[in-house]
Amino acid sequence: MGATHTVEIEAARLVAARFPSIEQVRFTNSGTEANLMALGLALHHTGRSRIVVFERGYHGGVLSFDHGPSPLNVPHDFIVLPFNDIESVRAAVGIDGSGIACVLVELMQGAGGCTPADDGFLHDLRELCDKTETLLIFDEVMTSRLSPGGAQELFGVMPDITTLGKYLAGGLTFGAFGGRADIFAAFDLSAGGVLSQAGTFNNNILSMRAVVATIDEVLTPELIATVNERGERLRDGLTRIFSENERPFDVTGVGSLMAIHAPEAELELFFHAMLDKG
Ligand SMILES: Cc1ncc(COP(=O)(O)O)c(C=O)c1O
Repeated sequence: MGATHTVEIEAARLVAARFPSIEQVRFTNSGTEANLMALGLALHHTGRSRIVVFERGYHGGVLSFDHGPSPLNVPHDFIVLPFNDIESVRAAVGIDGSGIACVLVELMQGAGGCTPADDGFLHDLRELCDKTETLLIFDEVMTSRLSPGGAQELFGVMPDITTLGKYLAGGLTFGAFGGRADIFAAFDLSAGGVLSQAGTFNNNILSMRAVVATIDEVLTPELIATVNERGERLRDGLTRIFSENERPFDVTGVGSLMAIHAPEAELELFFHAMLDKG
C-alpha cells in the first residue's frame, strides 16, 4: 500500500500539469501535513527560522492563527500579521528578510471567513519575497478549486511552494506540497539532497488512484468553471435578497467558496431557518 508505484508518478504529472508553479510535488495524508512539510522545507532551503503567517489564517489543526496563541500549534517562530496589510509585512521582513524563511498565506482566508486577498496584496508579497529571498508559500488546500490552475491562476501570482489537500483525492485522505524544482532538490538523496520525507501512507495507492480519476475524469476544467459560476450566482442572489429585505447580512467569498456574515443573533436565526427549510 505504501511503496513507490507508477500511479504516484501519474498523479504527480497531473498535479504538475494543472498547477504551473508546481514543477515537482510530494504527497502527504492531509493539508496540515503538507503545510508542515512545506514550512520545514522553507526553513531548510533558506537557513532561516522565522515564519510570517496572518491573523485568522488557518493551515491545519496545529497551524491555526484564529484566536491568539494556541497550545496545539507547532512551536515554530511565527510572526502573526494582519491579513491584507502589506506595510506590516514590509516592516517585518525589512531589507534583508530579517531571518524570515517564508510567508505562508491563503489566497482567500477560508476558515477565517472567506476573505479574499485584496488586489495587489499577493503581487506585493511576491515582490517583497523576491527582494528579500524569502519563500512565498500559497496554502491552496481550499482555494485550488477556484480555477483549473488554482487561485494562483485566478489572481495571477505564482508562489515558490503550493500546498494542496481536500477534494483532490475525491474524498480520500490527501495532501500535497509542490513547487520549484531547485527547492525540492533537497529531497533528492541521489543528487546530494539531505531531506527524507517518511510516512507510511503518504502515497497510498487508493488516494493516488483517486487523484488521477479526479483530475483526469471528474474535475475537468469545464466542471470547475461551472461550479464556480454557480457559486458566484448563489452569492449574488443572496446578496440581492439580503439587501432587498434590508437584512444586516454580508456574503463574502470567491466562486464556490463563501461565508455569510451577520450579527450573532441574526445568524443563529438564519441558521435555524435554513435547517427548517431542509
Ligand atoms: C486553508 C487550509 N489549509 C489547511 C487545512 C488543513 O487540511 P487538513 O484538514 O486536510 O489537514 C485546511 C482545512 O480545512 C484549510 O482550509
